[in-house]
Amino acid sequence: MFRSETDTEVLAHLIEAFGGEIDQAVRQALTVIQGTYGIVVIDARQPDRLVAGRNGSPVVVGVGEREMFIASDVAALVRHTEQVLYLDDHEVAVLDAGGYRTVTLDDQPTTKAPATIQWGHEAYDRGEHEHFMLKEILEQPDACERTLKGRLDLQFSTAHLGGLNLTPRDLLDIKRIKILGCGSAFYSGIGGAHLLEALTRVPADAEAASEFRYRNPVIEKDCLYIAVSQSGETADTLAAVHEVQRKGGRVLGIVNVVGSSIARACGGGIYIHAGPEVSVASTKVFTCTLVAFALLALYLGRIRDLSPAAGRRLIDGLQKLPDQMREILRGLDHIRAVADKYATRDNAFYIGRANGYPVALEGAQKLKEIAYVHAEAYPASELKHGPLALVCPETPTFVVLPRDHLYEKSLSSLEEIRARRGPVIAVTQAGDERLAGRVDDMLVVPPTEDELNPILLTLPLQLIAYYAAVRLGRDVDQPRNLAKSVTVE
Ligand code: AGP
Repeated sequence: MFRSETDTEVLAHLIEAFGGEIDQAVRQALTVIQGTYGIVVIDARQPDRLVAGRNGSPVVVGVGEREMFIASDVAALVRHTEQVLYLDDHEVAVLDAGGYRTVTLDDQPTTKAPATIQWGHEAYDRGEHEHFMLKEILEQPDACERTLKGRLDLQFSTAHLGGLNLTPRDLLDIKRIKILGCGSAFYSGIGGAHLLEALTRVPADAEAASEFRYRNPVIEKDCLYIAVSQSGETADTLAAVHEVQRKGGRVLGIVNVVGSSIARACGGGIYIHAGPEVSVASTKVFTCTLVAFALLALYLGRIRDLSPAAGRRLIDGLQKLPDQMREILRGLDHIRAVADKYATRDNAFYIGRANGYPVALEGAQKLKEIAYVHAEAYPASELKHGPLALVCPETPTFVVLPRDHLYEKSLSSLEEIRARRGPVIAVTQAGDERLAGRVDDMLVVPPTEDELNPILLTLPLQLIAYYAAVRLGRDVDQPRNLAKSVTVE
């Protein structure tokens, strides 16, 4: 009946029809609205009252001293209050300065107590850094320590993961692992699948959550699904979680933001504890997600056939990571010089083999996102099946080259590029005298356990993208066309 009116006019009519009861009018409107929304309504005639509702998009209520707030992200509230509550889908909050109440669309009260936010406003400050992205790259050693804190069990060479909500017997029954996430979270899932399969011998793979949800996937009861998300609010990942659960599957979350929609929907999993990530480009959460996957792989592996000695080897490797990250981050000047050298090229290739491949994907993703340079990532073995035709002196290739059992094979890919006079930048570990004469530039990281290589190899590529973007004068923290949380389909 309101077809020719705007949404605002429709609401105004409804408020009138409900005798000025704005919350009734909003609840009535929301019963017919389709699709996702996060909405807050104020009636100019009753400016002391706010009504908010959500379906799919985040709405956070901040509870202050005789003042209340509404935002879509807790980051907007941290300067005003430490007490917040997260609305659930089809829930409505009615606020005035003195307090709040939450109800369902049919006006049944929902009992919601506010929770204390995890990070104070200082954690959201840029400090002395020019960009949040650089701050967050430099925070990685501390963030990694937080991901590991209290989770390594030296006595039994395993991990403590209190929030899984699955018994060892449940975990023994798992026959497959499927990881779901979008963008960089998906790429960390590819790395996670490598780690899990290597250490548990359970077949594992990763899929883009944005595709998974649309292909009517078969859900297996002995498959463990894992949803990965920094924000915990990515609509496609949340929808994938719901799709699995609707069909009776079990999903764990690996999530950074405590209390976020995906964390709550999963009901069990691992918090990454990397701290707030403000820059649109994910950096510290990517590497800390890989650390969380290593902990999960260690835990699952030790329930199965991973020996105590192998568990101990992984623990030693994990404990060394923060200091090894610090070592990489001491080399900023060299990485910046390499970035400056190639920043103005139109294209770049990134190649990596096996667990080097997600590193290549993430390196290319960072360059595309913030420097707006066309970059493509390929498994090194795929180069000869097509992209080699594009290798030329103008296009640099970043070769992810850990010194693992595939090193010699990757060297032959490197030679194929050199033979076409393509510039080669090796992201590698020291120790091969032959390499210096065979590459144009080298970005060196310390040696670690093979399974943990992707974590350290990612750091130089984050910095390459960052310095290239700075050199090209891009808006590093808020690149064009992108949002930090993608809460729409
Ligand atoms: C990462 O740099 C990107 N901004 C993007 O790919 C991001 O990882 C993706 O949108 C998923 O976000 P989430 O981790 O918050 O779910």
